[in-house]
Amino acid sequence: MSTMLEQLKAVPPDPILGILAAFAKDTNPLKIDLGIGVYRDETGQTPMLPSVIEAEKRMIARQTSKSYLGPPGVTGFNSAVSDLAFGPGNEALTSGRVRTVQTPGGTGALRVAADLIKSANPDTTVWASDPTWPNHLAIFSAAGLAQQTYPYFDKTTSSLRYEDMMDVLRQRGPGDAILFHACCHNPCGVSPDPAQWEAIADLAAKRGFLPLIDMAYQGFERGIEEDNLAVRLFAAKCPEIIVTSSCSKNFSVYRDRVGAISIVASNAAKAGDVETVVHALTRKNYSMPPAHGPAVIDILLHDEALTRMWRDEVAGMRGRINGLRASMVEKISSRNTGRDFSFLQRQSGMFSFLGLSVAEVRRLREEFSIYTVDSARVNIASFNQGNIDYFVDSLVTVLKG
Ligand SMILES: Cc1ncc(COP(=O)(O)O)c(C=O)c1O
Repeated sequence: MSTMLEQLKAVPPDPILGILAAFAKDTNPLKIDLGIGVYRDETGQTPMLPSVIEAEKRMIARQTSKSYLGPPGVTGFNSAVSDLAFGPGNEALTSGRVRTVQTPGGTGALRVAADLIKSANPDTTVWASDPTWPNHLAIFSAAGLAQQTYPYFDKTTSSLRYEDMMDVLRQRGPGDAILFHACCHNPCGVSPDPAQWEAIADLAAKRGFLPLIDMAYQGFERGIEEDNLAVRLFAAKCPEIIVTSSCSKNFSVYRDRVGAISIVASNAAKAGDVETVVHALTRKNYSMPPAHGPAVIDILLHDEALTRMWRDEVAGMRGRINGLRASMVEKISSRNTGRDFSFLQRQSGMFSFLGLSVAEVRRLREEFSIYTVDSARVNIASFNQGNIDYFVDSLVTVLKG
């Protein structure tokens, strides 16, 4: 008779962790890690934002208890985050159709969304873009939901497969939840344009599928308000939507686990009912949400000067990424490689696929200590003035064979 835990087999490590370990061991002073999933500044650090540091000091000074929060979490945080996601004064908010509940990060929000969908209709199929953030699929599968993918990224043109995507979405209906990335698609950096978002939202209203919008990079594409366009369109046109917000990137509070789920129902009474279901689900999952990070963001977003400071900091991160995209395109295009990288400038956010073969990715790693995953997804924020020329020289050498 074998014991319970003997049944378990080790899970193979995430390929990205293997690359991280190899990077750590590499002694080449010029080495670059392009695989990491967090923002880096010009010095290669993941910064603490001055607005967050100041709000945190105030939070510590004000805090009087560490007793449990209630199930919704920090309510001031919830209202501030839903204002960011929907835009203050949005009809869905003013009519009471939105309920926002704080969660441990965007991942926590996605898991709560998955559990909520499973409770509402266990036969729902969740449709994710091909490709998507791998954890999306893991989260929905852990919640026991069926999954499919819809066409999204065209590898040959490095752009959106808009017509193919719409063909698949036209076949969907009330038994389907469709997962969208609100902006800065991870991993491909490609977003629908505003007219395409409008057509997708019209289709959702017509076909009756549930839009599930993952907003993990608000402010990193075109601006804080501009980046919630998809949420505003779906909220205006559809009776029900779910939005999952992550503050990890745009407030740079990754380890504090700050996120929220916002549910829009067809009327205020139904929204209230759904919120009770959310509380019942979180109660048997992690019981109560964490306070620290959301209490900090609550203070920040309710102080005009700190909010202004934060908006400038987000603009700075966005500007740095976009500047790197432009400078990468310029530097590579002057080197006659015969390959066009101009797509980097048409994409947004931290991630893009470089469109390299596995052999090219391996050569970059083995000969030049430039590390990324085999798909050649890179984090643009890993570049800086100190390493971009070394990267371009190495890439050009690899491309010229
Ligand atoms: C697309 C996407 N959604 C959600 C998340 C979750 O972020 P977190 O749980 O760290 O807030 C991430 C993080 O990388 C992401 O890329």
